[in-house]
Amino acid sequence: MFPLRRNRRLRANAAIRGLVRENIITANDFLVPLFVVEGKGVKEEIPSMPNYYRHSLDTLVDELKLLWSLGLRSVLLFVKVPDNLKDNKGTEALNPDGLMQRAIKTIKNTCPDMIVMTDVALDPYSSFGHDGIVEDGKIINDDTVEVLAEMSISHAEAGADFVAPSDMMDGRILSIREALEDENFTDVGIMSYSAKYASAFYGPFRDALDSAPGFGDKKTYQMDPANRFEALRETEMDIDEGADIVMVKPGMPYLDIVREVKNEFDVPVAVYQVSGEYAMLKAAAAKGWLNHDQVMMESIMAFKRAGADMIASYFAKDVMQLLSK
Ligand code: PBG
Repeated sequence: MFPLRRNRRLRANAAIRGLVRENIITANDFLVPLFVVEGKGVKEEIPSMPNYYRHSLDTLVDELKLLWSLGLRSVLLFVKVPDNLKDNKGTEALNPDGLMQRAIKTIKNTCPDMIVMTDVALDPYSSFGHDGIVEDGKIINDDTVEVLAEMSISHAEAGADFVAPSDMMDGRILSIREALEDENFTDVGIMSYSAKYASAFYGPFRDALDSAPGFGDKKTYQMDPANRFEALRETEMDIDEGADIVMVKPGMPYLDIVREVKNEFDVPVAVYQVSGEYAMLKAAAAKGWLNHDQVMMESIMAFKRAGADMIASYFAKDVMQLLSK
């Protein structure tokens, strides 16, 4: 009268738990999001993202060296564009001497082997705070895609390794791939935000970049949180159009989608633990309601278990600092 299997034997001590552990977190897992602003000596904390900062290019250099020393090898770049440079077509996005283009060069000059992935979308450049060109209150797909392709070329010219379109326009992966091939950027890859949901968890990010939509919402291009098959359809189309890496976003509330995408397709899958997820854990930890380091590690492990090959997370540096203690 004994249980034939006693699973607790495999949990009895740290050594046996280590032997049977199925997933492990390392520096190779992370993409580090970086927020860049104009100016000198700027390192300003984002109010809704405690301990996360906007950097001017000079203070970015120190941050990059720190990331590199922790083993972190990939960054995901976002820029905060001054209001006077914003317009409906995102003209500033194509400026060869724009903040994004200078940031790419700064990173490559500081850490030549750091992988630079750039956000490709109009919202930080748009006077409407939308990811596309607006006409009569609507987001115009095909004209936007043309600008996104030009933007990708501009990032590639500045030295980006991957472009990461986060806009959710139809057909943009194909147009970007064709443009990159035409301009001989055959080695520049595409990480597509393939299953990107219209999520309220992006709030703090929009504070960070001052990029909240000026009217309406993003539901005509980002996905309905109710949908699952649509995520597979979007991902399949992006792979067919030439995406090298596909992404699911947000992360924690969409782990089911991460697992399904991983099971269904054979390209690397990224997940984005977005600003609101970070803010949520930071706020609860600050109140003493949750243990910061434990929930951070558990949330990252959950992405690995769900099948993510890489994780964009504002916790990347904290995790590596904890692991290197
Ligand atoms: C821009 C973009 C957004 C995020 C990444 N790229 C905001 C949005 O789509 O509104 C969100 C990231 C985060 O919340 O951490 N298109």
